[in-house]
Amino acid sequence: MKYRLWVLLTFIVLCGGSTDQDYCERDENGSCKSKTNSEQCEDEDEPCFIEEKVAKKEENAYPHFETLSRLNPGKIGSEQTYTIGGREMKLITRALKPLLFEIPNALNDEEILHVIEKAKNPNYSGGMFSSQARGGLTPEDTFKPSKEPGRASGPASRFDNWDFNDDQIIDLKEVAMFCRNYNFLYFKEPEVKTMIETLKLNEFDDGICTVDEFQNMNTQGIEDYLNQVMRDHPKFRQRYSDQVWLPMAKEYDKLLSKIRYRFGELLKIPEKILLGSEHLQVVRYLPQGHYHAHHDSETEKVTDKPCCHHTSTKTVLQYNKCKLCRFITVMVYLNTPEEGGETAFPAADNITYSDSSFRRRGTEAIDLFNLSEHCQDANLVLKPVKGTAVVWYNHYVDYKGWLGALEERSLHGGCEVKKGEKWIMNIWITAPYKNSVNKLSMYSMEYAMSAAHNKD
Ligand code: OGA
Ligand code: FE2
Repeated sequence: MKYRLWVLLTFIVLCGGSTDQDYCERDENGSCKSKTNSEQCEDEDEPCFIEEKVAKKEENAYPHFETLSRLNPGKIGSEQTYTIGGREMKLITRALKPLLFEIPNALNDEEILHVIEKAKNPNYSGGMFSSQARGGLTPEDTFKPSKEPGRASGPASRFDNWDFNDDQIIDLKEVAMFCRNYNFLYFKEPEVKTMIETLKLNEFDDGICTVDEFQNMNTQGIEDYLNQVMRDHPKFRQRYSDQVWLPMAKEYDKLLSKIRYRFGELLKIPEKILLGSEHLQVVRYLPQGHYHAHHDSETEKVTDKPCCHHTSTKTVLQYNKCKLCRFITVMVYLNTPEEGGETAFPAADNITYSDSSFRRRGTEAIDLFNLSEHCQDANLVLKPVKGTAVVWYNHYVDYKGWLGALEERSLHGGCEVKKGEKWIMNIWITAPYKNSVNKLSMYSMEYAMSAAHNKD
């Protein structure tokens, strides 16, 4: 009798209120389904219902977050620990601008294996492909060098495109700068010299080229040479890596979805924003692989373009019609490379940062964006260790709790892999500006369903 009363009281406490009814799975007669597991079911009916409720609640336990927010930064070097889904996550603050945390063992070996196997499986992912951005090749590429020397038809034909400091001479550093600015090629002095020798540019015999000498220089040859190098040697490009995209929705992959929820909960991301974030990107670098300094997101100052995930697929495919809105980057090392492959933040915690100060021009030109050359000059250099996540905020949060200004100091890149391979994955938490909060993200399953109807 006593037992029955307890059961009844517990039932009233747990099942009181209309929303709790939702946790009761009902049979055809409208009664709560009871489990048949007799160990859990001392009594035939109610206690089973209680068990079921607890289980359901855990499954749906993603907390409610109204808007975006940023975690408490603490001091550089300080640690904060959270337990998410039974996993302990220790966040170590490594920088404040951008706010950046390192989280050791954020993924375990089994999860890492799963990610790599899926990325490598050509039947599932379509296989890894090399970057087409910034000098990478599209399948439609039809470049053919011209046979004749002479005047270039493009930017190489104009002296002022070379003479960055307007001193009426072109020196070797300015040649490297030209290659970088117009062909996205990262040349050091030896590569510049090789080009001059190959093309027999005797205008540079004394190390410089004057306005007069420039008039007859074979700029056509230079243009062709650079176009050819861009195609032949990915190691000179802004990015030299292969990557692949994997959907993270639970409909595609339960484990990837679980990983995303773990970071979402840690970073207090509203569920809708989390589910509307980009697919997972898995990246592989081979020896000489790198990704020179860049921002993962774009500035809020561009107001005439929608965020890439808040627009139609058609628009996204039209180059330059939308902008990246990546609130947070969650980057996880999937292996420990033998040598090299650090992640560098050249401007982290710089008090003053301006894009131009990083591209010092003319005679004193040094290029801190070039991480093959300047990896160790960066303010923050992180060593890649298998399972460690690096999490940083590319943006601030605005006064309403939505995407705010870009943090320019989130500039970063992957230094050259010297030995072995380097594997990483990127979860980009894409978020809306306040005027697009109510728009569906094209990455959410909801969008996929509505797009199927609208045929946009
Ligand atoms: C990126 C990136 C850094 C690294 O993939 O966007 O910045 O260390 N990677 O590979
Ligand atoms: Fe990046």
